[in-house]
Amino acid sequence: MFKESFKYYKSKLPLPSLDNVIDFNNVEKFTKKVTKIILKVTNGEFFGLIPISEWEIYEVDQNPGLIFIKNPFTTLGQRYWTVKCLQEYTKKPNKSNLDPLNLVPDNQEWWDICQNNNDFTLLEKLRWITLGYHHNWDTKIYTEENKNDFPKDLGDLTVFFANTLGYSNFNAEAAIVNYYHLDSTLSGHTDHSEMNLEAPLFSFSLGQTAIFLLGGISKDTKPSAMFLRSGDVVIMSKESRLCYHGVPKIVKSNTKSWDITNCDVNSNEISEEYKTVTDLCKNSTLWRPYGDYLSHSRININVRVWVTKKTTLYNIVNEFLFVCHTEYTV
Ligand code: OGA
Ligand code: MN
Repeated sequence: MFKESFKYYKSKLPLPSLDNVIDFNNVEKFTKKVTKIILKVTNGEFFGLIPISEWEIYEVDQNPGLIFIKNPFTTLGQRYWTVKCLQEYTKKPNKSNLDPLNLVPDNQEWWDICQNNNDFTLLEKLRWITLGYHHNWDTKIYTEENKNDFPKDLGDLTVFFANTLGYSNFNAEAAIVNYYHLDSTLSGHTDHSEMNLEAPLFSFSLGQTAIFLLGGISKDTKPSAMFLRSGDVVIMSKESRLCYHGVPKIVKSNTKSWDITNCDVNSNEISEEYKTVTDLCKNSTLWRPYGDYLSHSRININVRVWVTKKTTLYNIVNEFLFVCHTEYTV
């Protein structure tokens, strides 16, 4: 069933109907399929995010444990993470699919070469990088020997989401950043190599829109299809954590939420840690190549968290309490 749906949405001839793809921009049409959830936590702030009280959060009824947060990022937040994924996380010692190809000389950086030489071919060749514990694609094992420091900013962002959703004892340890073009796909898979399979996965999307399929623990369950747009956050927790998922299609977005001007692109209260990159994001000339990249690509940051502290009774109670009110029901 997963394979059939994947093939259906991937098809170019005929093009699939997108009528059944859950669209969180149009939830009224899907009230029988999604439930809005209101968090218990409403205070707390993090750089590049709108206040928690304004977040729109949903669960897909057919997929318990799948949590969808409709773009909680500010324009500046989206720009910041885009620059980090293209210009910084692509640097060594982080690993990428380009490493064995030897296309980037040791003393140079992928992003600089692409920009200085206008090298679109090299730009399009980057498909993934790994951060922290590097995913070994052959053995599918994470080891202590194959590990670099996890970026502090991305770790802090993920822990902020985890804490807000009631997961208070996890640290971000590993991430895969996927780079998609308009014809890219990610075939159906489960993520089961992590050290702690009860810990949720956090997925952040930037740029073009994905059709995301989420099925069951075997390939026999017909998956739900949903649009993931720029800024959307998906958390795969509990029953959804080990379910089959994939991206059969990228669709061109008709809006650019990373380009809304006079939002907060000029905001001043930014801590030193984020300043260098946000200054770049606010400068339209310096930002342009990143915006150009997003106009034909999708970036997905997929963070894996592991338990670092002992589970306490407080953590367990907190996890169960985070949802206090449901708005739409079947
Ligand atoms: C992954 C993954 C989904 C996406 O990296 O394991 O499932 O939305 N990514 O790109
Ligand atoms: Mn995955």
